[in-house]
Amino acid sequence: MTFSPALEEKFARILTIYPPGRQRSAVVPMLLYAQDEIGHVSQEVIDEIAHRVGIAPMQVDEVIGYYSMLHRKPLGKYHVQVCTNICCLLVGGQSLLEHASKTLGIGNKQVTADGLFSLEEVECMGACSWAPAIQVNYDFHHKVTPERLDRLIEDIRKAQGTKQVS
Ligand code: FES
Repeated sequence: MTFSPALEEKFARILTIYPPGRQRSAVVPMLLYAQDEIGHVSQEVIDEIAHRVGIAPMQVDEVIGYYSMLHRKPLGKYHVQVCTNICCLLVGGQSLLEHASKTLGIGNKQVTADGLFSLEEVECMGACSWAPAIQVNYDFHHKVTPERLDRLIEDIRKAQGTKQVS
């Protein structure tokens, strides 16, 4: 399997960071880089990364099972993660998740029909002091209200030139 030149460059660089025999340490960043480019971690990606670091595909699969930020199924272009852990829960995290679900028209771990958004309930993301917190791709949003969430989603839709499906 070949990846884009930019991803191949990242892979080549990261594989030089670790000493000989320790390339398996590059598995997580390689999976994240691949997921960013492809949208999920396919079996083909798993097989290729396993081959490049010299471990069995099953070992890569075990890593994916451990890290919740790695996804076997395709995500939306904008992956909305809503924290419902204790700090966020106490200040409306669960309601925010339900609101996001209603606004987007999808449930937890689902993708909108146009592929623009996916939604996921997540554990603490280390932003407890600014709860309730959400993350959209790599961007954090703190003290999020339902209104702020709706504005954020609408702004993304506008920027993408799509309309809300009601
Ligand atoms: S509990 Fe939500 S960010 Fe920590």
